[in-house]
Amino acid sequence: MSRDNTTFQQTVLEAATVLRNGGNVAFPTETVYGLGADARNIEAVNRIFAIKGRPADHPLIVHLADESQLPEWAREIPSKAWQLARAFWPGPLTLILNRRPEVPDAVTGGLETVALRVPSHPLAQALLSAFGGGVAAPSANRYGRVSPTTADDVRSELGSELELILDGGPCQVGIESTIVDMTSASPRILRPGAITEEDLFSILGDNLTPVTPSPVHCPGNKPSHYAPRSRVIIATHDNAISKVTAWHIRGNRVGLLSPSRPPDLPSGVSWLDFTKSNTTQAMVLYQRFRQADQLGLQILVVVMPPEQGLGIALRDRLLRAAGLGSITAQMSDHTVESLETIPD
Ligand code: TXA
Ligand code: MG
Repeated sequence: MSRDNTTFQQTVLEAATVLRNGGNVAFPTETVYGLGADARNIEAVNRIFAIKGRPADHPLIVHLADESQLPEWAREIPSKAWQLARAFWPGPLTLILNRRPEVPDAVTGGLETVALRVPSHPLAQALLSAFGGGVAAPSANRYGRVSPTTADDVRSELGSELELILDGGPCQVGIESTIVDMTSASPRILRPGAITEEDLFSILGDNLTPVTPSPVHCPGNKPSHYAPRSRVIIATHDNAISKVTAWHIRGNRVGLLSPSRPPDLPSGVSWLDFTKSNTTQAMVLYQRFRQADQLGLQILVVVMPPEQGLGIALRDRLLRAAGLGSITAQMSDHTVESLETIPD
């Protein structure tokens, strides 16, 4: 075994021990960094809420090493859930299933259902295998803030309160997992993510209800969430410059997040590179939000990606960041436009 490999194993064993002793560990997943606790240890789970400042009735996702552990947490698992688990785990998909009665209320927020996911990041996989049980973990950020996609993001936000932060590099997906409710006759997407509606459709056929805001009160469903301190203004390719200009000439510190730098960008306005493919846009989105805050931008105008594939999840996060999260990500640019406030 190489030295690096030995260090990796030691770190993983140390983290598993912290979890076993009722401590909290921040760890990377392919989506965002999670703030973990032994899901069967109520005190450790409660500490997650205290660290995040998150209301106690908001349920957490339980992370597992592999799908064989599903029956330890869920009951009446429908065959469609097994099909999705086999197709997309390990990966950025969370399934909502009926919980086993012994799953702590602290994890489910008192709901009769439980959220389960098998992440694919090698460090998450190693940690979950070494620990052996379920790890309850929300994203490792303070309540309502932007999810962390690097270990440094976690360190700067929660570092002083955490026993251990595992560093697995920047998250490759960059936005939170797709959540699918499997407890109704036709599975429902509660939160869009990198496993797209088309991906789910390819396994389930037409038994799928598209993205619907969850009836459950949960942080991902607050109208304003995943937001930087800068105010996010939604734009299209065609009207981005006029929006930027409108805010800029009124003396605001403005930035533009768009796939390319417009030649007519007013001087004094910062350009933030949103890249050109949906995959890299998801990877950089939260980094750009953080960058906007570091630059002290008051206004961040964002060019919306098209409504297809991963673009649906990106639009969902952008609309929430703009405080327009109660409408669905499929809403047309025109409708979003009519809801947007224009400076006066
Ligand atoms: O990618 C992810 O899912 C990341 C990584 C760390 O795995 N986790 C994450 O957790 O985004 P969190 O807590 O920030 O968001 C989990 C979402 C919340 O909106 C929560 O309300 C919802 O999952 N959720 C959890 N249990 C639920 C349930 N039983 N029914 C409906 N929604 C549920
Ligand atoms: Mg979160």
